[in-house]
Amino acid sequence: MKIRLLESNDIKQVVDLWTSSFSGNFNNPVYTNYLNDSNSITVVMCDEKKILGAASLHIIKKLTRTLGLIEDVAVSNKFRGLGIGKKLVGKLIQISKEKKCDKIVLSSSKKNSEFYEKMGFQKKEFSMVLRN
Ligand SMILES: CC(C)(COP(=O)(O)OP(=O)(O)OC[C@H]1O[C@@H](n2cnc3c(N)ncnc32)[C@H](O)[C@@H]1OP(=O)(O)O)[C@@H](O)C(=O)NCCC(=O)NCCS
Repeated sequence: MKIRLLESNDIKQVVDLWTSSFSGNFNNPVYTNYLNDSNSITVVMCDEKKILGAASLHIIKKLTRTLGLIEDVAVSNKFRGLGIGKKLVGKLIQISKEKKCDKIVLSSSKKNSEFYEKMGFQKKEFSMVLRN
């Protein structure tokens, strides 16, 4: 098993993983320039060619600060509880430091909050959403 950056051949498997892991609709067309966007980083855990987990960090440049947003952390059902999620998020934390993010934010369901707390995240405020 190894962690590496998302490659174009992984996209179908990653979209399938996110679709099966989240109730959201990931069947939108793939943003073709995604892999060239240095402010959107997706890491994958893979075993040979099989994707076991994926997670993304989006870098948001503000006027005086840099924010990291972690999104779409998912591990394939059969491989949960093996430390893969922790390794993926750990890798994104490392990248956020290299990218000089002042802080990282993420939204979590209540049932997963302990997973993030174990990695040092703290509950702060609450998130809101307006869907277009
Ligand atoms: C949440 C998720 C990413 C965790 O990945 P995982 O690979 O199973 O987690 P890990 O094995 O790396 O767990 C790391 C630690 O967190 C703990 N943990 C994991 N999920 C947990 C949960 N839901 N509640 C409490 N603790 C949890 C583990 O027991 C482990 O603890 P340890 O370090 O003391 O042994 C995975 O369950 C998943 O893909 N869920 C569906 C998608 C999802 O909900 N994603 C999160 C979006 S907010």
